[in-house]
Amino acid sequence: MAKTAAKPAAKPDTVWGRFIDWLDERYPMTETWEYHLSKYYAPKNFNFWYYFGSLAILVLVIQLLTGIFLTMHYKPDVNLAFASVEYIMRDVDWGWLIRYMHSTGASMFFVVVYLHMFRGFLYGSYRGPRELLWIIGVVIFIALMAEAFMGYLLPWGNMSYWGAQVIISLFDAIPWVGPPLAEWIRGDFVVSDATLNRFFALHVIAVPLVLVALVFVHIVALHQVGSNNPDGVEIKKKKDANGIPLDGIPFHPYYTVKDIVGATVFLMVFAAIMFFAPELGGWFLEHDNFVPANILQTPTEIKPLWYFTPFYSILRATTHDLVVYGLTPLVFAMAALTVYSVRGTLARLATLALAAVLLIGFFTLDAKVWGVVLMGLSLVFFFFLPWLDRSPVKSIRYRGGMYKTALAVFVVAFVVLGWLGTQPASGAKVVLAQVGTVIYFLFFLLMPWYTTFDKTKPVPERVTWK
Ligand code: HEM
Repeated sequence: MAKTAAKPAAKPDTVWGRFIDWLDERYPMTETWEYHLSKYYAPKNFNFWYYFGSLAILVLVIQLLTGIFLTMHYKPDVNLAFASVEYIMRDVDWGWLIRYMHSTGASMFFVVVYLHMFRGFLYGSYRGPRELLWIIGVVIFIALMAEAFMGYLLPWGNMSYWGAQVIISLFDAIPWVGPPLAEWIRGDFVVSDATLNRFFALHVIAVPLVLVALVFVHIVALHQVGSNNPDGVEIKKKKDANGIPLDGIPFHPYYTVKDIVGATVFLMVFAAIMFFAPELGGWFLEHDNFVPANILQTPTEIKPLWYFTPFYSILRATTHDLVVYGLTPLVFAMAALTVYSVRGTLARLATLALAAVLLIGFFTLDAKVWGVVLMGLSLVFFFFLPWLDRSPVKSIRYRGGMYKTALAVFVVAFVVLGWLGTQPASGAKVVLAQVGTVIYFLFFLLMPWYTTFDKTKPVPERVTWK
């Protein structure tokens, strides 16, 4: 940090100035403020898509604060949990508000994070030198999913119970280690009090700590490399005589003020949902969760909340037919394409060996195993995005039709998969989910090719700004 920020100038000789000087000698107060805010030069052309990082911080804070108050009244015990949530809703002063803030906050967190990630696809923010920043982001996303999954068990409603039962039993599919692993996660043979207790501990302290630490590291990594922008131009390449980027403006006050406007609009939407439709027709709070957990009564349709459904769809779409008629030809095609394009006998042999192992697995292992593998891979691919994208340009503004089409098709497939995950899996919907799954993976797998052959436009030297 000290390497770029100059030593802060001495403060005016007032009580406040002397206090800040006293503080600065003992803690890098002014230096940190300048490095991260008043002398952090962000590109001057940030647009709508750049609101969602600060909004994610805002929602994180809302979740932490409301979570603390909920924990004061909640009881992590299978005999008391459901009733304690009802007690919060009916008897605790403002308890209904705190609870609805937390449940609305959970879904809004994913809305914000999905839009934040989408910006990465629009402007190539995952590309060098921001690979690590992106990877930290993907880890945050996975931690956020774990946090939401564990939080969902706590009200001990019927969907909480059966959702956890279904998802944890997925681990059973892993050969050999699966069943003991699932039992270890639950702490029992079924989801029970032991499960509720550990999920409570993880949800209220362990994962939030990890999330806060990851967000901190995310911002430090961002400020090390500097922000990308809608043109995908590196502003650090053009600096004035004082070493200040020509297209940069101090984050504070320009973007702090802009972000306050974004936060105000966001909070209006948030409040509208919270006060007028906190369940949002079952999308934010599922109807089956207003019934206490019942081990003898499975809900008609076990489905997770909307933010998990694209991945849940991939899991359910992986039937024996998809493995045989979808994945087998895909592996053949990818192996042929890779053998054709890589250099060196060793790399070619490794590709063929991997393809052979996969093909043997397809015909010997249960389709459920491949469902779990595909669901896992659907997240793992995000980590490799910086290296899958070979385009000479970052921003969609200068990309050609191939990338634009691929991204549009991917987004449609993702949304359709999300919708299908909320529907009963039968007939045409299974086939549609299988098509969506194949498109989802092709977007990543074919990226090195379509980004290489895409016809790009020349990128300007400086950011464009009206
Ligand atoms: C709790 C969740 C998260 C928080 C609080 C957070 C916070 C932030 C903030 C404040 C910024 C700078 C402002 C902005 O560019 O919008 C940022 C930038 C960025 N974040 Fe996140 N983030 C989160 C999750 C993620 C996830 C899940 C990813 C990707 C998988 C991600 C990838 C990025 C990237 C690539 C940038 C740089 C974007 C650019 O400069 O164009 N973040 N994040």
